[in-house]
Amino acid sequence: MTPKTPVGVLISGSGTNLQALLDACARPDFPARIAVVLSNVPTAYGLQRAQDAGVPTVVVPHRPWPSREAYDAAVVEKLRAHGVEWVCLAGFMRIVTPVLLEAFGGRVLNIHPSLLPSFPGLHAQRQALQHGVKLAGATVHLVDAGMDSGPIVAQAAVPVLAADTEDTLKARILEVEHTIYPEALRQAVRGELAPLLAVD
Ligand code: GAR
Repeated sequence: MTPKTPVGVLISGSGTNLQALLDACARPDFPARIAVVLSNVPTAYGLQRAQDAGVPTVVVPHRPWPSREAYDAAVVEKLRAHGVEWVCLAGFMRIVTPVLLEAFGGRVLNIHPSLLPSFPGLHAQRQALQHGVKLAGATVHLVDAGMDSGPIVAQAAVPVLAADTEDTLKARILEVEHTIYPEALRQAVRGELAPLLAVD
């Protein structure tokens, strides 16, 4: 059987998307394995999820670093130490720099809780409610130097209901996030995104 591709997952919080990736990677026929989970937040619950799955964890707090580039260089070092070939941002609430992108030849995926290019940045669900859109959703995209702006890999839409609050919409979007992220990762490690990779 072909060896599974080692993936690093970067988180800052609860890690429900991480859990979906861990569950997918646990299936024998899934072509990726999570080699390390890295968080910038020491208390992120996702670290516990990783430990429960027997996956190594690393915390790299963002505070002591003089620049985003210096922080990313430290992250790259940790990911490389675990043999990572693809990186998944999963609720990692930091802007990444070309230092990280170039280290992995652009093999960096992100998930965002909107139908990009609508509502990039923070509070995507709040933005959707404020604009009164009737469809919201989630997007997996390759990361580039912009904010939530790289080539789109996968999307799923959900309805926005009249009674929705930010929390109910967030929960409905998360459900589809958990489906599209593992599928996008499968495509990525199979080399199917090569035409979208700007750096190689
Ligand atoms: C998810 O909704 C993800 O799309 C979002 O943070 C949440 C993390 O949840 N990411 C962004 O907003 C990035 N711009 P999780 O920790 O339960 O996976």
